[in-house]
This record gives sequence, C-alpha cells and structure tokens, in this order.
Amino acid sequence: MCYAIPAKLIARDGLTGTIDYFGETRQILLDLDDIEIGDYLYAQGGISVRKIPTEEAKIVLETWKEVFFELQKTDAALAKLDESKLTKNALAVLQKINLRKSLKKDEIQTLLELTDSNELSVLYEIANNVRQREHGNSSCVHGIIEFSNYCSQQCNYCGIREPRDIKRYRMTVDEIVAAAKAAVDKHGFKALVFQSGEDYWYDDDKLVDMVKRVRKLGILVFLSIGMRSEETYKKLYEAGARAVLLRFETSNPDIFQQIRPGTKLEHRLTLIKAIQDMGYILATGFILGLPGETSEDIANNILLTKQLAPDMHSFGPLIPTKDTPLEHHPKVNKDLVLKTIAVSRFVDTDCNILVTTALETLAPEARREALMAGANSMMIDVTPPEYQNLYTIYDGKTEVHSEIDICVQDTVKLLYDLGRAPTDIGVIR
Ligand code: 5AD
Repeated sequence: MCYAIPAKLIARDGLTGTIDYFGETRQILLDLDDIEIGDYLYAQGGISVRKIPTEEAKIVLETWKEVFFELQKTDAALAKLDESKLTKNALAVLQKINLRKSLKKDEIQTLLELTDSNELSVLYEIANNVRQREHGNSSCVHGIIEFSNYCSQQCNYCGIREPRDIKRYRMTVDEIVAAAKAAVDKHGFKALVFQSGEDYWYDDDKLVDMVKRVRKLGILVFLSIGMRSEETYKKLYEAGARAVLLRFETSNPDIFQQIRPGTKLEHRLTLIKAIQDMGYILATGFILGLPGETSEDIANNILLTKQLAPDMHSFGPLIPTKDTPLEHHPKVNKDLVLKTIAVSRFVDTDCNILVTTALETLAPEARREALMAGANSMMIDVTPPEYQNLYTIYDGKTEVHSEIDICVQDTVKLLYDLGRAPTDIGVIR
C-alpha cells in the first residue's frame, strides 16, 4: 500500500535478487523482465512486483529516511525482553526457541492451555521478541477485494454458504479491475487479494482475463477463490497470479467432514500442496474454535501449517453466524487466538502471521494485541462500498469496516505507533 518503501536491487544470481532498504538487505524472487542492478522496485511477499523510475524512488525514499530509523528504534524498544523478569518456565521456552529446537506437541498444548494473565503477557512478549529478531520491523499490508458472494459450497460455518438466504452479488471483470485500480492509484496498494465464494460463473477465461488485467497494475495478484481445479490454478499462474490463500480449515478429518459435508480434508490438502508446487506464494491455516475441537487439535493445526511450509499463516476464530448450522456455537475466547499466534511464531519462527478480520470482528482492539503477540501482517478491505456489506461470511464482519481512507489511515497509524516499517519481508523458497 502507500505504506511501502522502494527497495534498490544491489545483486542478483539468476532469479534471486538481493534488495536494500537503508542498509538492510533481503532476498527476493525477481519476477520482472527488464530489471537491472541499481534499479528500484517494490517487492511484496518476497517477489518483485513493480519497477520504479529512479527519480521517483529517490523522492519517496527521502520521505522515509528519518522515519525508517525512528520506527526501528520504537520496534526494538517495544520488543525488548527483560529476561531477569521471566519465570523459569518462560525461560525454558525461550531457550528452546533460541536453540531452534522444535516444541513438542504436548509442550504446545501446555502453552495453549495457559490462563494466568501474567503468564500470557510473558508468552506474548516472547513471541513479539522472536518476531522482531526474525523479521526486524518489517510488516506487510495487503488490500482485499471481495468480488462475489455466490458460493457453490455448503460449509456449516460460513455465512455465504449456498443455502443461506442473502442478497447475492457478482462484480464484472471490468468492475474488479476498476476497484483494483482505485486501490492502487488512490491508496497505493502493492498487493491485492481477490476473494470470492466458490463461484463457477467465473470460468477460466474470465479469471484469466481478470488476473492479466490486474497484474498490469504492478501488484502482487493474490487469489482466494476456493477449491478450483489444479488446471485452473496453473492457467492463473501463467496469467500472472503469484499468491493463493486457501485454508485447510482443520487438521482433524472428522471435524472437517462435519463442517464441510461431502468434502474431504485429503483432497483439500492435495490441492494446497499442488498450488505450492506450481510456485505460488501460499497462505494457509485453519479456523479456531470449531465444534469438538480440543487443544490437541489446535496443536495439530499449528503443526500441520508448519509442515505445509506456507509463506503466511492465516487462522482466525470461528464467528458463529445466524442461519448457519453453527449459529449457536460458543464464541471463541480472544486469548485463545492470541495464544495461537504466539505459539505459531515459536513453531515456525520466520513465518508471516496475518491478523485476520475475524479476530478484529471478535474484538476490535485485538489488532494491536495480535501484532504485539507475534503477528506481522494485515489486510484492509478495499471492496467497493456498495458490495462490502454484502460479503457476509460471518456476522458482524461489516461492523468493523469504515471508509477505506479511514481504515488505511488507522492502519498506518497503528503500524507507526508500533514501529513497524513497510519493508518487504523477502522470503524465498
Ligand atoms: N467464522 C470464521 N471464519 C470463517 N470463514 C468462513 N466463515 C467463517 C466464520 N463464520 C473463513 C474460512 C474461509 C475463509 C475465507 O473465511 O476459514 O476459508
């Protein structure tokens, strides 16, 4: 978004580039045709997305110069750990992480079951410290355009499931491109997620057309369109899409079968792996608080996410939604989400962890808390206002929205307050 710093390409080895932000370097995948050492570019999720004319880059960098070092200082101060104040147990956890030893499943469960508020504060502080050590103060902010709420699926948790009686909408490819262009031109986004129900009205040709046109805006094209075929995903990669968000929802096959009747976990996992093998950046994860879920299931969810080796972890609490089979299921405790963020940071230390809208819906103040408990990535809804209120995957989602301008300002302010800079994280597989 506007919260993005131009990087200078200082070295390359084939498709791997080394980029520089005020002396900090990162490795990225070079995905632009005409890029040379000394050029400036924007990178998102570890991929170059747009070259920037040198003069323009220098002007933007001038505005960032002082701020960049100020942000670093703020983040370092907030992430500092006073080890003398840690309990024996907390020190043992920290030591294991420092030695890069994997936490065992029962240790993960023990952390997930903590309830004492002092212990929880320590858990979050350690996670924030590990986040800082692994990523410095890098943060990423993506926009999301929800382009259709038609869905052919019947997931028991979801508010746009096929049988639910809601007002449906579909944006035309022209409308999607116009919305993406507004997000890029007006708000400066450099990465956009295109999300919809599993809506086959968008056939391969329409999706390819959409991807080709939005890629021309110089952004990372991130898809969240459900279980489309491998063939479709291959075509969309060729068209220029580079990232996919597809959660496995739960690692427990029995719970999976209950919440997604007629579908199988193993098929979803096969698709997730195939998508990653195609070269896409992968964001995956689960829903927290599903019926019958135990802390062992959550530990398994975290371990499965790690095993899938995604570039981004995306998990959020179940929000029980009216007129769905899970309408009366109990609300998830906010601390469970924060604990899951912290433990995911320990289990997969260098991962990116997204603060999800579902968490914001559960508790608006949780955005800040999540960023202080190990998370480093955010999304802002940039769906045109006439459709935004109709994308009701869960109750209350629309209440967290305000004008896009205000959301962008609030997010930038929050990141400034916490000392987070928009340097790309630079992950490369
Ligand atoms: N509560 C929380 N998350 C939900 N999702 C769908 N419905 C709900 C709900 N009621 C999540 C699913 C899906 C993603 C797009 O949104 O994990 O994969």
